[in-house]
Amino acid sequence: MKIGNIKIEGIARLAPMAGISNAPFRTVAKECGSALTTSEEIDANALIKRSKKTLDDIASYYPEERPIALQILGSEKISLVEGSKILQDSGADIIDLNMGCPVPKITKTGRGSAMMKNLNNTADILSAMRKAIKVPFTIKIRSGWDEKNLNAVELSKIAEDIGIDAITVHPRTRAQRFTGKSNWDVISEVVSAVNIPVTGNGDVNTISEAIKMRNYTNCNSVMIGRAAIGKPWIFDEKFESLSYEDQYKYKTKIINRHINLIKNHFSDRIALLQMQRHLSWYAGGQDRVRSFRVSLFSTKSFDEAIEVFDTYWKSLSYSKNLAKVV
Ligand SMILES: Cc1cc2nc3c(=O)[nH]c(=O)nc-3n(C[C@H](O)[C@H](O)[C@H](O)COP(=O)(O)O)c2cc1C
Repeated sequence: MKIGNIKIEGIARLAPMAGISNAPFRTVAKECGSALTTSEEIDANALIKRSKKTLDDIASYYPEERPIALQILGSEKISLVEGSKILQDSGADIIDLNMGCPVPKITKTGRGSAMMKNLNNTADILSAMRKAIKVPFTIKIRSGWDEKNLNAVELSKIAEDIGIDAITVHPRTRAQRFTGKSNWDVISEVVSAVNIPVTGNGDVNTISEAIKMRNYTNCNSVMIGRAAIGKPWIFDEKFESLSYEDQYKYKTKIINRHINLIKNHFSDRIALLQMQRHLSWYAGGQDRVRSFRVSLFSTKSFDEAIEVFDTYWKSLSYSKNLAKVV
């Protein structure tokens, strides 16, 4: 599919996830086969204030990641326009607007999915952003604010008229947050209503499920979020057909790569926190994971965390339960 003039190969791509979809994780997802990656949400006001944490940890990306979509979050026209320009100047190939975050702290200031409430105001903001953004401009939406306000189709048509280049639909309402099942029919409805590319998202755990979503909804691509946490290799279509031993080797290579990227990208303190989280996820579903996690989260330095993980991970390779290491 093409988003504006940007060609995107492959069906599945990593979803933006705050605190998770940063440059190191996006890079390993991309190296495993994620078609395009999108940054986690970047607060427009923090961008304008040139917050160091925002610029260094959240909005930064590696040149090899390009084309890269950087996602902006905000509610005021001026800050969204100015923030988008900053992202554009930093080299974003695509700017995505977050219109789906359901977290009360975010929605109470009119950000995220609260932008689906007053479509007149939102249309005004989208038009102003469209005028300022020279690169492809996309939005990520939910099915609506709640069951009584299902307006994904209406919003998508407005967005297309304004010149938005592509839309991602996570078909849950804001009220559902992450509960219940995503309603893929809403994705189909948006696909039928507009002539711009639509990415479907929600409850996809494997590439075969991504293909199922595409066939069911006719969407152009699929975003995978939670299922990729601790398993970036799901973007590799070949992974499932590897032997358990080769899967284990593949995972070990990816984890090592991720560890190195984290170490070089963040300050020591953030690197340790990131490493603990990701290593804990990488161990998900394995033997003795609880005791491993207790040891991991009690480590005080990056090297200590790696050592604890290394001992644990190697013990798995010799375990007779190797077959479970998936
Ligand atoms: C921890 C977490 C953080 C998220 N942060 C963002 C975000 O920054 N921007 C965004 O558009 N969506 C965010 N999402 C939503 C995901 O992008 C995705 O829409 C949602 O998880 C549904 O897809 P899934 O079923 O594949 O996980 C987040 C989801 C999770 C679980």
